Order: sequence, then C-alpha cells, then structure tokens
Amino acid sequence: MTSLDAQPVWRVNGMGKRWSTHGPGVLDLGVAEMDVSACPPVFDAVRRAVSAEAFGYPVPDARSGVPEATSRWLSGFGLAVPADAVRIVPDALRGIAVAIRNLTRPGSAVIVPTPTYQRFIEVVPLTGREIIEVPLVGGRDLDLDAIERALAAGAGSVLLCHPVNPAAVVFGADQLTALAELVDRWGGRVITDEVHAPIRYGHPFTPYAALNDTARAHAVTVTSATKAWNFPGLRTAVMALTNPVDVEVWDGLRHLETSGASPLGMIATAAAFDHGQPWLDAVLADLDDHRHQVVETLADNGLGEIAQLPDATYLAWLDLRAWDENRPAELLRETAGVALGEGALYGAAGAGFARLNFATAPDVLAEALDRIVRVLTKSRSTGGPG
Ligand SMILES: Cc1ncc(COP(=O)(O)O)c(C=O)c1O
Repeated sequence: MTSLDAQPVWRVNGMGKRWSTHGPGVLDLGVAEMDVSACPPVFDAVRRAVSAEAFGYPVPDARSGVPEATSRWLSGFGLAVPADAVRIVPDALRGIAVAIRNLTRPGSAVIVPTPTYQRFIEVVPLTGREIIEVPLVGGRDLDLDAIERALAAGAGSVLLCHPVNPAAVVFGADQLTALAELVDRWGGRVITDEVHAPIRYGHPFTPYAALNDTARAHAVTVTSATKAWNFPGLRTAVMALTNPVDVEVWDGLRHLETSGASPLGMIATAAAFDHGQPWLDAVLADLDDHRHQVVETLADNGLGEIAQLPDATYLAWLDLRAWDENRPAELLRETAGVALGEGALYGAAGAGFARLNFATAPDVLAEALDRIVRVLTKSRSTGGPG
C-alpha cells in the first residue's frame, strides 16, 4: 500500500475538478493535483480551524504565522528571506500578475521560456503586456541568446517556471547565473515561480534568488505549499521579496490587488511548511516509483523515445509529435479515454506534446498507460494517429 493508494474521499466521490470534468469512461491525468489523502498535520490544522469556525476575514499577514513559516522553510532551500519580506497572496498567478504590473518597467514586454505553465501564457496578456515566448533549447535549457536579444529590444522581465511545469526539468545554477548576469546588464527583472521546487527526486535545485546578490536584487520569488501539499482549493501563495524596494512598493498597493487569501489556506500553508516534510517524503517515494513506471512502461512497449525521466514535478511531458503534431491530447482522450494536458496550451513550443500527471493511484496509472500504449502502438502499426 502506498500513500497514493489511500484515495481521498472527494476523489472517490467524483468531487473536485479532476474527477468531475470528463465522463465516467475517461481517466483524467490532465488536471495538476494529486490523488492523495491530505497531509495529517495540514488536515489537523484545517480541521481545528473549521471546528473553531474560522470563516471570517483572515488575520493580518504579519500575525498569521505564514511569513515566519515561509522564512524558515525557504532557508532550508538556501534562500534567506526575513519574515517581514514575505507577503501573502491568494494564489501564485495573482502574485505574478501583481509583480508584472508593479515591479517591472511600465509597459515592458515579458519574456517567457516555453513550454511553461499554461496560465503564464494567459496572465501576461491579461496584464496588458506583450508576451515573448522563447523556446527551451532541446526542451531543457534556457536560450540565453534569444533572451538577451529580447531584453536588448526592450523586454523588461523574464517569467521563469522553475522547476518547469510541464517539461519536468530543473535549471542548473550555471545557466541561471548566466541569466542573472544578462538580466542585470539590461536592467530587467526575473519573476520566478518555484511552487514545484519541493517535488524533486534528488535533483539539485537552487532558488533563483539564492544564486548571488545580483539575482537576489532583481528576483521576485513566488511560491506556495498548495502544489506539494495538494490544497490548491484553499487559496494561499506567498511572495518572497528579496529587494527591499519591492517590499515598499508592495505595501503601497491597493488592498484589492493582493487580498483574497483564505484563513484556511493560510493555516494550511504554515502547517505544511513547518510540519509537512515527513508526509511529503513518503509521497515523493511513491511518485518516484510512478515516474519510473511511466518511462519504463513506454520503453518496454517500444515507445521509449516519447518520454524522459522527470527531474521534478509529478508530470511527464510526452513527445507525441511523430504521432500527431497538433492535438495529440485531444486524440488520446477520444481514442484511449485518457485526458492529458494539450501541449500547445503551454506555449507554441509545446505543440505535439502532452502532459501526463502521474500523481494518481497505481491502478489508475497502470490502466491509463495501458490504454495509451495500446492506441500508440496500434497506430504505429497502421501508420496513422487514432
Ligand atoms: C508553476 C505553477 N504555478 C502556479 C500554479 C497554480 O498555483 P495557484 O493556484 O496558486 O495560482 C501551478 C499549478 O499547476 C503551477 O504549475
């Protein structure tokens, strides 16, 4: 029995987005949440808050315990951020939107290495800014030359997803240091979303702002407990502001820009950061088995070239370009009854790929892989998709 065998009640009852979007015949490995019962210290803290009817407006950030817990937790990653430089937002995307609008050069374009979290592709235009997609080299590395060209042409910031959802890679300190140098040269900013950082399989990870003083001064770090501890519905994320001027700007923003975190989310966040690691370690051991199961099952069936072993996240990024260049996920949903994330949503560089979430019960994953393998191998023998 693994932690991913213990299915949460809401999953079994078909509640939540993941298991209520498609019909009963479809296995949803698209939506990015885990099918796992809640982390006990998080659940206990939330249960206590519910019993105390903590349904009012949240306590002020500084009295919530979240900044201190965030500061302690980030120090474990080598990122020193005092509690008084942590700010709470309802979700990572709001934090990013607010950072783009208020902490980057007015009107400047935003460089987005792709493929990337699909909402990045939406959030930049919503802030009224131009988005400049820069594909990762070989699907893994930052294209520093292209990024520099965009900065030289007037772009004001780089929006990093680190580790990368959906490609499941972690940027090494060397390339991040090179990025920091050129961003500094052009007076830009780096907004770095590090919500997937706790979900790694031994791969080294350096928070962008922990690289050196240069990076620290131009970085805006967004993170949260909601991915790793699986409570995105509770609505809380945090900004780690390593530039003191950003703290001042942030504190001058209108309430509506940054408000909306929920008391339950704040309580859950502090509990996860302070007490959630043992649970996460157990889940990671199971996810480690699952990532191997994905690549080995595909390789055993002659499909080894479509998947690399993920370094981080609970996502596998399947290269299905040889099968269908445009909408492989849609085709797999129709023909295999497995819903995956459509690669093109993650930026133009993602077309022909599909994102598979392997944080589900072992039997669900096995069945989904079996269905995918059957469709892909059959199509290979008949010479066409579907
Ligand atoms: C990189 C990244 N950032 C943010 C989010 C969503 O976080 P939030 O709900 O806090 O906006 C996700 C969700 O999958 C994600 O992958």
